[in-house]
Amino acid sequence: MSSDEYILDTPVVREFVAGVRGAIAAADSPEEACDVIRPAFASLLADQEWLPQTYRRPVPDSGMGGGIGQWALYRSEDGSLSLFALVVPPAAETPVHDHLAWGLVGLYQGTQDEEIFVRSSGELELTERRALRAGDFYALFPPHDDIHRVRTTSADTSVSIHLLTNDTGCVWRHSFDPETGAEASFRSGYANAACDAETAPPEGH
Ligand SMILES: [Fe+2]
Repeated sequence: MSSDEYILDTPVVREFVAGVRGAIAAADSPEEACDVIRPAFASLLADQEWLPQTYRRPVPDSGMGGGIGQWALYRSEDGSLSLFALVVPPAAETPVHDHLAWGLVGLYQGTQDEEIFVRSSGELELTERRALRAGDFYALFPPHDDIHRVRTTSADTSVSIHLLTNDTGCVWRHSFDPETGAEASFRSGYANAACDAETAPPEGH
């Protein structure tokens, strides 16, 4: 009996997750899985009904700072898949950060500017800047394009939907100083789901 966590337990989310899990199980590669999942992900971004306002709210004192809310919608029991909404208030921006897992990321509400970096010899180099609007999405295949930051450019909060193959809010990942390239370990956490009570990043992380 699976004890996957459907925090937003609705037929839309269950059907989407079932499709994703089937696609991942049947695919020979992350790229192939993402290709199969794309149409369902596009539908999720186009459907303005399924995500309650609760998960479109900013969160003061969040792990990302700036009132940025990370709302868990679904997590697999084994930590190999998560679906969450990231809410970024107007003019707020995330730290430069990585994700450490492949998946799909798309904008559901509002507009964002995104800056993508590569890190070489310890320094960050800006490689791409792109403007995103609702409905835009991309597949993420780390380490390619895994380091970025986003800033909300709309008058209202932006909401992006993340489908990633880890428990992104709870894994130790990295934030980066854009000037020096220095990295720091962080866990962003979720506003509405707990992580294991691990107090320090793993050795050598
Ligand atoms: Fe991100």
